[in-house]
Amino acid sequence: MLRGDVEIVTPDGEPVPRRRKTVALCRCGASSIKPYCDGTHKLIGFTTAVGTAEQPSSEA
Ligand code: FES
Repeated sequence: MLRGDVEIVTPDGEPVPRRRKTVALCRCGASSIKPYCDGTHKLIGFTTAVGTAEQPSSEA
């Protein structure tokens, strides 16, 4: 999720149009509106590892 005044650009540096202040970026690679999430991750069963160094588990 991205919130606030953040510019999103392609790997080539081209600005990506944004209509909302809060947006979700696609992490599964299956969205039809990349770089944004369109909910397709639910249909394909995409999950991520929990408890890694990059994404610590919130469970203690
Ligand atoms: S994370 Fe890819 S569609 Fe939601």
